[in-house]
Amino acid sequence: MARTALITGAAKRIGKAIAWHLASQGWNIAIHYKTSETEANRFLSELAGSHPDQKFELFKADLNQPDEVEKLIPKVLQAMGTIDMLVNNASVFEPANLSQTPIEFFDRLMNINFRAPFILTRNFALTFRSGVIVNIIDSRIVTNQSNFAAYSLSKKALWEMTKMAALEFGPGIRVNAIAPGLALPPEDKGDDYLWKLAGNIAMKRPGGLYPILKSLDYILDNDYLTGQLLFCDGGENLGLKI
Ligand SMILES: NC(=O)c1ccc[n+]([C@@H]2O[C@H](COP(=O)([O-])OP(=O)(O)OC[C@H]3O[C@@H](n4cnc5c(N)ncnc54)[C@H](OP(=O)(O)O)[C@@H]3O)[C@@H](O)[C@H]2O)c1
Repeated sequence: MARTALITGAAKRIGKAIAWHLASQGWNIAIHYKTSETEANRFLSELAGSHPDQKFELFKADLNQPDEVEKLIPKVLQAMGTIDMLVNNASVFEPANLSQTPIEFFDRLMNINFRAPFILTRNFALTFRSGVIVNIIDSRIVTNQSNFAAYSLSKKALWEMTKMAALEFGPGIRVNAIAPGLALPPEDKGDDYLWKLAGNIAMKRPGGLYPILKSLDYILDNDYLTGQLLFCDGGENLGLKI
C-alpha cells in the first residue's frame, strides 16, 4: 500500500520539490499551504496527471493560528486514511537583529517555525504508533549571527525538539532534521545572490534542491537513524574560508 506524507508549505519551492520527489517514489501526498492557493491547485493537477494511481489532497492552514494547526493532522487522517511521514518544511525567513525585533514579530516567527512543528509532532505521535518526522532546519543554527535573530532562534529550538522527540517517540517514530544552506534564493532575488554568498563556503557554490532530496532519501533508507541532523550546506556550517 502506498505510504502517505504530509508536507507543510508544499505548494512552492523546497516543499514542492520534496512533494514531487516523494510522489515519484510512489507516496501519496497531503499538500499543506496557506496563501499559495493557485500554485497549490496547479501542483495538485500536475501530480494527479503524472501519478494517476496515487492520492493527492490540499490542506489549507495558517500555522500562526494554534487552533488551525491542531486540526491539521485530524483533517489529513480523515481524508487520506493515514500519515506515514510528516515533513515540517513551512517557515518564515525575515531579517531583524535582536535589538530590532518587536515582540509581535518574534511571536509570529516562533509560532510558525517552531510552535507549529511542535504541535504537529506531538499530534503525530499521539495519533500514530510508527512513522518518520523530518524537520527542515537551517545551517544557520551553528552561528550566533543575529541578522535573522528570531528565525535563527526558532530553528535552534526546532533542532533541540528534534532530539527530544526522537528520544521520547522511538522506537516507533524516528525524528530527524535536514539543514540546507544556500539552496534557493529568496523569491525577490536571483541566483547571483546565492553565488555571491557561496564565495567563501567550502564548496564555493549554491546547493540547489538535490542535496536536500538526497538527505531525505538517506533518512528514509536508514531505519536506525534518529535524532540526527544532516547538514547539506556545502560546508557552510564549518564557517567561512578566509
Ligand atoms: N531557501 C533556502 O535556501 C533555505 C536555506 C536554509 C533553510 N531553508 C529552510 O527550508 C524550508 C523551505 O524553504 P523555502 O525557501 O522553500 O521556504 P519559503 O518559500 O520561505 O516558505 C515555504 C512556505 O511556508 C509557508 N508559510 C509561511 N508562513 C505560513 C503560515 N503562517 N502558515 C502556513 N504556512 C506558511 C508558505 O506557504 P504559502 O506560500 O502557501 O503561504 C511558503 O510557501 C524552510 O524551513 C527554510 O527555513 C531554506
